[in-house]
Amino acid sequence: MNTSHSASYPATRLRRSRSAGWSRALHRETVLTPADLIWPLFVTGGKGVEEPVGSLPGVSRWSVDLVAERTKEAMALGIPCVALFPNTPHDRRSEDGAEAVNPDNLMCQAIRAIKQACGEGIGVLTDVALDPYTSHGQDGLVDQAGRVVNDDTVAVLVDQALNQARAGADIIAPSDMMDGRIGAIRAALESGGHHDVQIMSYAAKYASAFYGPFRDAVGSGGLLKGDKKGYQMDPANALEACREVALDIAEGADSVMVKPGLPYLDIVAQVKARFDVPVFAYQVSGEYAMIEAAAAAGAGDRDALVMETLLAFKRAGCSGVLTYHAPLAARLLNG
Ligand code: PBG
Repeated sequence: MNTSHSASYPATRLRRSRSAGWSRALHRETVLTPADLIWPLFVTGGKGVEEPVGSLPGVSRWSVDLVAERTKEAMALGIPCVALFPNTPHDRRSEDGAEAVNPDNLMCQAIRAIKQACGEGIGVLTDVALDPYTSHGQDGLVDQAGRVVNDDTVAVLVDQALNQARAGADIIAPSDMMDGRIGAIRAALESGGHHDVQIMSYAAKYASAFYGPFRDAVGSGGLLKGDKKGYQMDPANALEACREVALDIAEGADSVMVKPGLPYLDIVAQVKARFDVPVFAYQVSGEYAMIEAAAAAGAGDRDALVMETLLAFKRAGCSGVLTYHAPLAARLLNG
């Protein structure tokens, strides 16, 4: 940054612009609004069911009818998009995750219910990956040696994405980190007539310790043996994140995501500086749980922690943030 045009102290006193609330408002460089938020929702079976998620205080799984209610609530709060994750019944999970391509699975039921309740009033983002559907908790198909195989998995992910698009999904968000899946999904959406269905690629998704509570929420945590380091990124790498983003843009991603959020704001800033596509970040379950734990321990004020962290995503260059705190943040922003 070029600051050579600033006079030195005492002619320049940066505290002058901070000295009153009106002046801080006038000089604010970054704003957060409810329109910056995407609310992830967990879907479960049944009717009228709310199941609190133990490791995510304040977050529940909702049956399809209640997911539609939550989405109406989001719309009223000015939140433009919800993200859906199913907790597939255990008797519908299998080695090959076939439930992912069932046109009547929980995900498709939820998409249809939301579209019926909200029409075009809110966007529905759907996760593409096999982990909520497999009996082993991995995001793809597993070979004899226990390795997640790339190309055969991509073929299933294409069918999964088409299944979601047919049910009415607006944004397909592949979170699986297989190579080549964005191009394959884009081509299938085009030839299937789903020209306006967007792809938000989880382009830079790291093998992170912050996903634990999410795996509880979708019921894959207890099933997963080993880790996902063979496909999710090494937290040590930033250049590689830019290569992932470049490939996904070339393959047809409309926007890209960095995940997790706060520990990877440097990646957001680098991607924003180097590429012209909208960048999103996912403030993941472990980050949410950390804020809740801090608030419960009296180590910080929940509302202030939430607003400060969400603003930081905007400052780093994000177009929007996926956060479980979306309804709280929207309420605070709406006064
Ligand atoms: C799975 C998926 C994960 C998350 C979103 N999609 C977990 C994982 O990769 O194991 C994590 C979200 C969160 O922690 O809030 N494809």
